[in-house]
Amino acid sequence: MENISINLKNTGKFISFEEIGAYAQLSSRHLDSLNSGSGPGNDFLGWLSLPDDILPQLEKIEKTAKHLRSVSDTTVVIGIGGSYLGARAVIEALSHTFSPLLKTKHHDVIFAGQNICEDYLSDLIEILDGRNYSIVVISKSGTTTEPAIAFRILRDHLEKKVGKLAAAERIIAITDAKKGALRSLAETNGYETFIIPDNIGGRYSVLTPVGLLPVALSGLDIKMLVKGAKSMEDLTRRNKNATSNPSLLYAAARNLILQGGRSIEIMAGFTPRLHFMSEWWKQLFGESEGKDGKGIFPASVDMTTDLHSMGQYIQDGQRILFETMISVKSPGKKLTIPMEKDDSDELNYLAGKRLSEVNHNAEIGTTIAHNDGNVPIITINIPTLNEYYIGQLMYFFEMASAISGYILDVNPFDQPGVEAYKKNMFALLNKPGFEEAGKKLKERL
Ligand code: PA5
Repeated sequence: MENISINLKNTGKFISFEEIGAYAQLSSRHLDSLNSGSGPGNDFLGWLSLPDDILPQLEKIEKTAKHLRSVSDTTVVIGIGGSYLGARAVIEALSHTFSPLLKTKHHDVIFAGQNICEDYLSDLIEILDGRNYSIVVISKSGTTTEPAIAFRILRDHLEKKVGKLAAAERIIAITDAKKGALRSLAETNGYETFIIPDNIGGRYSVLTPVGLLPVALSGLDIKMLVKGAKSMEDLTRRNKNATSNPSLLYAAARNLILQGGRSIEIMAGFTPRLHFMSEWWKQLFGESEGKDGKGIFPASVDMTTDLHSMGQYIQDGQRILFETMISVKSPGKKLTIPMEKDDSDELNYLAGKRLSEVNHNAEIGTTIAHNDGNVPIITINIPTLNEYYIGQLMYFFEMASAISGYILDVNPFDQPGVEAYKKNMFALLNKPGFEEAGKKLKERL
């Protein structure tokens, strides 16, 4: 079976493959820190062995998904950040692009709790009025404001719609084993629960029930996803031979490029299906590295869409960035461009070609053009989009972000900066305990 791989040939004008290989080899010592638990954040290393550790839970996750799929046509998955992005990234990468519009029988997975927008939730309630739905609410702390508000509103809606008892049968809570408001709510109301282990942070939790239950609900094969992740664990976790360890190579390449003065990394996918994979990747690297005044700023574009907007800047703006392109070799479906007798749109030179061939040439053309514009490019090759390769890709990135954090000498597993806005919001909203802070803030307005 092929694996996802990393191609560094388009970084060559900026840093040579030999330099990257040497730096990756040097960085392989960080694998020892991860495996021995001797580095910063060593109480958050549960993700390393998740591909094995989660196996005993897969049957229960699948059974719960089957139950919700049988009692409802839609599930609202409530969560934010690490309790949201992984599931959405997998589902969007592997599902029908227009699944909510499909006429054939299917189960819709809709997301909420990832914003505080009144219109978003009001619009969702309008849709849910006509749906037979379930709720999966995910929060490790059990106290995060955005999902807590969405859950309070939707729980009330569902209880009014089907009654408190029937609602309890179709609400699943994924949270801490003991603490937090969500744990208490689940116990009081008798909701089925799954546990988020203490030693796994949100952005590394896609292979726990946090990611796997929503993915199973959407009808995807979670066993294959975990199998793919396991194969990447085998390729990376204890592999100190830098040239055959893609996570080491990627971590080393992006840090050498940073040292050369490029502090923005743009993830570029050539299929809209990877849009949320970029969103997940941005959280993974942004929250893991962005601290102590350090870190590469992760940004993303969707190609070829954004070649008609951000393409100009990438080609020709300030030389502060580099790109990481995700190249998918084979699309899942086939569509060719038809021949037209009078060639009125002048496209007959493409007649008979598959769209993927045109897209692939757009990708090569973009790579050469951006390289000519002095943009270093790392390419990550994926054979095709399926559960196995998405599992590989996500474990690959998790491992690379941990190594990269250690290269930067930060703790890649905490996120102290996320608290600042929360404290201010609580103070401004007069949350009990924040009165003094509220007074001070209001004086500044
Ligand atoms: O990565 C993280 O830890 C954060 O993004 C959290 O996942 C996010 O803030 C949601 O937290 P919780 O699951 O406690 O509601």
